[in-house]
This record gives sequence, C-alpha cells and structure tokens, in this order.
Amino acid sequence: MFERAAIDKTPTKSERIARNVQDLPGPKTLPIAGNLIGLDMHTLHLKLEHWCDQYGPWFNIKLGPERFTVMGDPQSIQQVLKQRPEHFSRIRTIKSVFKELGIHGVFSMEGREWKACRKTTVRGLDARHLQRFYPTIIKTVHRLKNRWQDQMSESQPIAVREDMMKMTVDITTALTMGYDINTLENDQLEFQIHLKRVFPILWKRLNAPFPYWRYIKLPADRNLEYSLEVIRNHVFTFISQARQKLAEQSDEMSQPGNFLESLLIQNDLNGDTSDESLFGSIITMLLAGEDTTAYTLCWIIYYLSIYPDLLTALRSELKEGIKEHEKPDWAELDKLPLMDAIIQETMRLKPVAPLLYLTCLQDTQIDDVYHSQGDLTDHSE
Ligand code: HEM
Repeated sequence: MFERAAIDKTPTKSERIARNVQDLPGPKTLPIAGNLIGLDMHTLHLKLEHWCDQYGPWFNIKLGPERFTVMGDPQSIQQVLKQRPEHFSRIRTIKSVFKELGIHGVFSMEGREWKACRKTTVRGLDARHLQRFYPTIIKTVHRLKNRWQDQMSESQPIAVREDMMKMTVDITTALTMGYDINTLENDQLEFQIHLKRVFPILWKRLNAPFPYWRYIKLPADRNLEYSLEVIRNHVFTFISQARQKLAEQSDEMSQPGNFLESLLIQNDLNGDTSDESLFGSIITMLLAGEDTTAYTLCWIIYYLSIYPDLLTALRSELKEGIKEHEKPDWAELDKLPLMDAIIQETMRLKPVAPLLYLTCLQDTQIDDVYHSQGDLTDHSE
C-alpha cells in the first residue's frame, strides 16, 4: 500500500525539476580531444548506442572543442523536430558544405526559406504525383527482374547492392526529371558514374573535423567538383527541356509529369524560377532518394534470406493480396500488412540515416532538460 502510494507520487514528465543540459552525464573527456581519441566516425552510431546503454538516452560528449548532447529517446527527438526551424536548425557545416558546391535545397536551407521549399518539395512528392508515377516504378522493377533472370540463367553472380543502386538511380532520375536514364540496362553511363562519386565525398566533408579542401584540394575533391559540373550540365539541359515542354503545353500546367515540372509550376507561382535554385532542389532529391532506398532494400533482402519462414509468409501474403503479379495495383499495396511490417522493422533495425545533427537556436526546454542557444544536439535513434 505504502509502495503503491509512493509510485503514484512519482512526478510526471512536466512536473520533473528541469536539468541543465551541461549537467547531463557522459563518458570522461580528455583535454582538447574530448572523446575523439579512438572514435571511428564510420561506426559513430554504434558507439553512441553503446553510450546510450551506459548513460541513458540523454548524455553529453565532446568532439574536439565542440560539445554535443546526444538524444536517443524517440519522444524527445520528436519534440525537437517539431520545434524546427524556429528553435533548432541543422548543424552549421551542412549549409556551408552544400552551398559552396552550389547545392542549395531543403537540406541546406533554414528558417522561412526551408519552410517554403519543404512545402514545394512535399507537394511535388505527394501521393497523387507518386500514383501517376507508379507505372514507371513497375517498368523499372521489371528491368531489374529481367537482369537478374538473365544473370541467373548464365549462372552469373548477382551484385545486389550495385543493382539496387542502379534501380534507385533510375527511379529517382525519372521521378525528379522525367528522364529514363536506364542504368539497369546500360552499365557505363556518364551521369551515373558522376552521381556515384558525389555522395561519399560529400559525406566525408560533412564529417570532416577541419575543412581542409578550402586550403588544399586532394584528387577526390577535384573529382567531386568535376563530377558536380558534369551533373549540373545534364540537369540544366533537363530544366531547359522541361521549360520548353511546359511552355508548349500550357493547358497541362496543372498536371506536372515529374518533380521538376511540379517545381517549375509551383515556382512560377512563387516567383523563383532560377536554374540554380531548381538545380539545388533536383540534386538534393537525387542525393536523398538513392542510397537511402537502395541500402534499405538490401537490408530487407538480407533479413528475408536469414529468416526463410518470414520469406514464405511474405510470399503467401503477396499471392493472396496481389491479383496480377506482373502489374500489382496501386491500391493493393496498402493491404499488405506483413510487407509493411518488414519494411518498417528493417528501417528500425538498420536505419540508413541513424543520426541527425542539429543546433539549438533559442533557449528551450525538451522533456526535463534546459538547452541554451548554441548547444549542439545530436539525435541518435
Ligand atoms: C528508405 C528510404 C529513406 C530514408 C530512410 C530516408 C530518411 C530521411 C531522413 C532521416 C531525413 C531527415 C534528414 C534531416 O532532416 O536532416 C530525410 C529527409 C529527406 N528525404 Fe528522405 N529518406 C528516404 C527516402 C527518400 C526518397 C526516396 C526521397 C525522394 C526521392 C527522399 C527525400 C527527402 C527529402 C527531400 C528530405 C528533406 C526534408 C526536409 O528537409 O524537409 N527521401 N530522409
């Protein structure tokens, strides 16, 4: 009885006495290096997970002179994301690294500019647009199926990761610009070769402790800039073709065929039609949509291969739920609970973007922790 009463008096989240962010626990830091010694940035997410087990979902670390507060609690993370862009922005390096490469889109924008661009981006990707685009996805998946059937009939090994990348490049390029690049059936395409180069070097720059490339350019940095120039020329050609097409078909203005056309129409309404601004949005989509989806699909295949019972159950769900297997109906996709659960669970276990880096812009309280302006907040899920 006594214990029960004591439990009932446990303060609720809002009643808890607020802590200051500086007072959170964390691993011991060394002068100057902080926690950098022995830290491998490639496996940072695993180390943070380990510290989460040790210190709880909120703790502080220091990477060199910079203090980061790590949050691994989904409810608190959601609170932070809801307070964007007023209270939290992305970490400063993202904007400078993207902008100096001429990539200015939703990832590098902040404040009102981000809100407006996000609205346009979300509209360009809404369910109506995606449904209209669905036949292109089916066509691309058939190409992958044919490729794999050909390789199997010739007893060739299948490069699953490479092929998933090809498929997502094809789908994202068609979705964003209406261009059928078809890397699944053409192995050595200039556009794909250059696109493939961009992401790893960009990622390296975002995580670099010091922006060395502003003082000395390594061959990888020169390659990145050259590749971006080639991609820029291709994208500018697509922009000019899309402009021409829309000008000729003014009655179809309300029916954009792809993301670029949707942007052109919306930007026409909002006043910003510069090629540079469109390039920023397009390249952002290409970067956002490819590795993420390709790696998630690879993990799904991996899990299905190690859990054969799950694969059997999924097969029978698809057999019952899809009438025409060569051409599944868009509406049928919503009625596959096991497939949906497999996708969600894979993204939970193997999130391809496990960390978000944010900066606190105004004094604020999340859960029972006070943050003051300038705090760096690293969200680990
Ligand atoms: C499994 C697939 C995907 C995963 C796990 C994923 C994950 C994420 C995450 C974690 C963010 C937040 C990044 C941040 O705020 O810093 C994000 C943002 C974004 N993603 Fe994805 N993504 C996926 C697929 C895609 C695809 C296919 C597209 C488009 C073709 C896309 C477009 C975007 C865009 C435009 C943003 C920026 C949103 C904003 O800043 O408002 N993503 N994604």
